[in-house]
Amino acid sequence: MSDAVRSVRGINDVLPAENPVWARLERVAAEVFATYGYDRIRTPIIEHTRLFERGVGEATDIVEKEMYTFTDRSGDSLTLRPEGTAGVVRSGIENGLFHNTTQRLWYSGPMFRHERPQKGRYRQFHQFGVEAFGPTGPDVDIEQIAMSSRLFTRLGVSGLMLTLNTLGTPEERRHYRAALMAYFSEHRESLDEDSLNRLERNPMRILDSKNPELAEIIANAPTLEDHLGDESRAHFDGVCQGLDQLGIGYRINPRLVRGLDYYTRTVFEWITTDLGAQDAVCSGGRFDGLVARLGGSSTPATGFALGTERLVQLMTAQELAGDDVSPHAYLVAADSIGTPRISAIAEWLRDQLPKLRLRVNTGGGSFKSQFKRADRSGARLALVIGEVEASMDSISIKPLTDQREQASVALTDAPALIDDWLFASAPAE
Ligand code: HAM
Repeated sequence: MSDAVRSVRGINDVLPAENPVWARLERVAAEVFATYGYDRIRTPIIEHTRLFERGVGEATDIVEKEMYTFTDRSGDSLTLRPEGTAGVVRSGIENGLFHNTTQRLWYSGPMFRHERPQKGRYRQFHQFGVEAFGPTGPDVDIEQIAMSSRLFTRLGVSGLMLTLNTLGTPEERRHYRAALMAYFSEHRESLDEDSLNRLERNPMRILDSKNPELAEIIANAPTLEDHLGDESRAHFDGVCQGLDQLGIGYRINPRLVRGLDYYTRTVFEWITTDLGAQDAVCSGGRFDGLVARLGGSSTPATGFALGTERLVQLMTAQELAGDDVSPHAYLVAADSIGTPRISAIAEWLRDQLPKLRLRVNTGGGSFKSQFKRADRSGARLALVIGEVEASMDSISIKPLTDQREQASVALTDAPALIDDWLFASAPAE
């Protein structure tokens, strides 16, 4: 191991043992997004650096200190995407997706932020995200929160709490910003270095500070609520009423400001107490100004992204089952039969039973050692071709995980029997 190349700090493998839970999350998320009429979009991992500078905001932690930025061989400044929204907006503008139509899109994939790694916080992590473009009313905000809630219910995840806030319009925020700046300037001598840095550039981010010594000053700071206009207030009331009607509980948190600059009006986070400091599993909100800011015509929008690793950790901690991705059957064969015939039979079985996950023993070995491998593979059936079976064009089917009797049948009858034993009573999710 000493001179072996290791993985990069904060950038992890997802090993086969973790795959069942990932697979279930990936499958159920795609199903839930489809039931709300969302289409998948795949955007690149690498974008021009200025997309994130303009999109996410120059005074955010992400752009100031967390991006993986490099100059490529053509001299262009490129960045590994730290989040998915800016790329989706860039693609929508570039491909004319927002003209006179509503778009509901979802995506999934790796994101990159040079943060300090700890449990639940990585330098490469994955997100599932959704973005809707076009609608202005609170109905889409409600739809997306309901969609995230449905996803958690389908997965069986419990203990998540929805926190909600409104950030108003940019105009309302300008007034609020001035009020905050005045307030925190009065308390300048009590601020820590981080907050002093934020004071001029982005005073709302001071509200995000985790420094306990600032808790009281922050608690007494002015809230945005006093600066909201009628429309913003009505929008937020609409979201709350919609959630009430759907029976989705929430807590309004006037300090929820989010770490990206593009939000307007509704912002929300699903948080948990089960994951330690990294408590946000899913977060998002409205970003009505971003399409215009990135050069498109003004298009209201709203979306969210959930952190795959955090949700997987939660599912694992709550002992929720993953998808069964182990082989259904393991083909055991006597060495004397020879590889060409064994693989021909295996291919024929796959033709007959397209959903069969069949692992073929390789490297020969005694029946005893082949059966050991079959057991270890997690397969429910061993399909056995010994010399007797080979001479009669038959196959023996041996259950490995239940008490059923082994059966020997003509090869041509095997698909029907395997189908019956494996798939006749497929377990519900
Ligand atoms: P975000 O809050 O930066 O929002 O990230 C969304 C989620 O990604 C977080 O709630 C968290 O679960 C996960 N996450 C963030 N950073 C890390 C990390 N370093 N390691 C592990 N998980 C992490 C956005 O990215 C917005 N684009 C969401 C959005 C979509 N807003 C509107 N549309």
